Amino acid sequence: MADRVFIFDTTLRDGEQSPGFSMWPEEKLEMARQLARLGVDVIEAGFPISSPGEFEGVRRIAAGVRGPIICGLARANPKDVEAAAEAVRPAERARVHTFIATSPIHMARKLRMSPDEVLQTAQQAVAYARRLAPEVEFSAEDATRSDIDFLCRVFEAAIQAGATIINIPDTVGYAVPEEFGALVRSLLERVPGMDRITVSVHCHNDLGLATANTLAGVRAGARQVEGTVNGIGERAGNVALEEVIMALGTRRDSIGLTTGVDTTQIYPTSRLLCAFTGIDVQPNKAIVGANAFAHEAGIHQHGVLVDRRTYEIMTPASIGLPTNRLVLGKHSGRHAFEKVLQDAGIRLGADELERAFARFKEVCDRKKTVLQEEVIALVEEQFALFPRTWELGRFSVTTGTGRRPIATVRVTKGETEEERTASGDGPVNALFDAIASGVGVRPELVDYSVRAAAGGADAVGEAVVKLRWEGDLSVGRASSTDVLEASARAYLSAVNKILARQPGGQSAVIAGEEEVATAPAGPRDDSVTSSRSLPRAAPRGSSQ
Ligand code: KIV
Ligand code: ZN
Repeated sequence: MADRVFIFDTTLRDGEQSPGFSMWPEEKLEMARQLARLGVDVIEAGFPISSPGEFEGVRRIAAGVRGPIICGLARANPKDVEAAAEAVRPAERARVHTFIATSPIHMARKLRMSPDEVLQTAQQAVAYARRLAPEVEFSAEDATRSDIDFLCRVFEAAIQAGATIINIPDTVGYAVPEEFGALVRSLLERVPGMDRITVSVHCHNDLGLATANTLAGVRAGARQVEGTVNGIGERAGNVALEEVIMALGTRRDSIGLTTGVDTTQIYPTSRLLCAFTGIDVQPNKAIVGANAFAHEAGIHQHGVLVDRRTYEIMTPASIGLPTNRLVLGKHSGRHAFEKVLQDAGIRLGADELERAFARFKEVCDRKKTVLQEEVIALVEEQFALFPRTWELGRFSVTTGTGRRPIATVRVTKGETEEERTASGDGPVNALFDAIASGVGVRPELVDYSVRAAAGGADAVGEAVVKLRWEGDLSVGRASSTDVLEASARAYLSAVNKILARQPGGQSAVIAGEEEVATAPAGPRDDSVTSSRSLPRAAPRGSSQ
């Protein structure tokens, strides 16, 4: 049996379909490009039948991303299969992934089909998909709660019909490792032809066992692993691919298997997903959490200072986490700035680099030293895939004990300038209200947060604003030393995305920019007036 495990990424399908993680097609395309840099073997780009937008999104990824196999999901019926096959057709290597549930509860209650009907439907869907696509994957949804004899029959039928990959999903995260490993082993032994196709595992994390189950699956003979970046996905999520990849790499002595992944792209990939979805991983998240390589306890710090291996089983560099603590300031040149980006695995086109450097210099005028994390936050702001239709001009906010906050904001769109004043329950509320009035759209505010990109009272803060407009979520991020400025820019960034999607809006796809914001962790004055005139951004250019 081969010692290479294939990595199947379903961030853009199983991950993206979970609440709060939706991405826009432009973001999905950029994410797919980053997954290709990471070196995953398969990208499940979406579920093409689910909407025309989803179909188009999958098609754009199939046409625009080279390297990985591009896969589209289909239920076991001809229309789904046709849509998936059509959407992935432009890919260098295309795959259709069709599935049907095989557990008694799903068959009886959800599908209302007998086991024989399910078996026949699966066989027909695979045979049809095989006529339309060179590679066909078949999944038995809820496999871990299915009768094993029935599972054997369904898999045998799917292989006979032409499936080249058989996937064993733990759809509801019910399995425990020994049991899951035994299931995979027994299917490999019992199903005729199973040893000639690729066996895949797909574990959800409801009991926090997804990584353990996945590793048990590969130990038992599976050679494809399905999961998502940061473990996003339905309910408690899918298995976090970074955990599986680093476990295989770090414990190769025990497991004896390899992947084709460039692990130094793990951290940049994780960050990009956070930037697009506006959702950070928890600090103690394995591999990519903010504390994953931090050593706080005195004994640990002492050990690490003497020899990092005392408390570190992986190096931060191996996942692409910047390790040198470069501190930049207004005398820092472009070289040092570019080095920080390079260490963080961030690639910018010439125009974006120019803008990012200009923004960095602007911040240096307000702040003596700029830490690496702050540089990264500022640069993430330059990954905007959407035109900056509206830009922030002058603004002022007045607030204080016993008075109602008032914000005056000027926003500009080309030659058009709008200035509005609004009051609100709080300064941010007033600020957003004034902007909404100036730009002429008033989306629902779903979420708003600010945090410091690094420690310290003068830290660059990151603001994230989530807006809902006509059912779609739009995430805006921005960074600044001034939390109100960051908030306003983040709000405008989210609004600009919404406008870009409107009929007649400029939804030109320009690779590269996203906004991040700032939360000054410093002392709070309860009477604050903030006023600043922002320079107009340079005209935007295409980077890739
Ligand atoms: O969890 C699951 O069963 C799935 C299938 C579609 C593979 O996501
Ligand atoms: Zn799933």
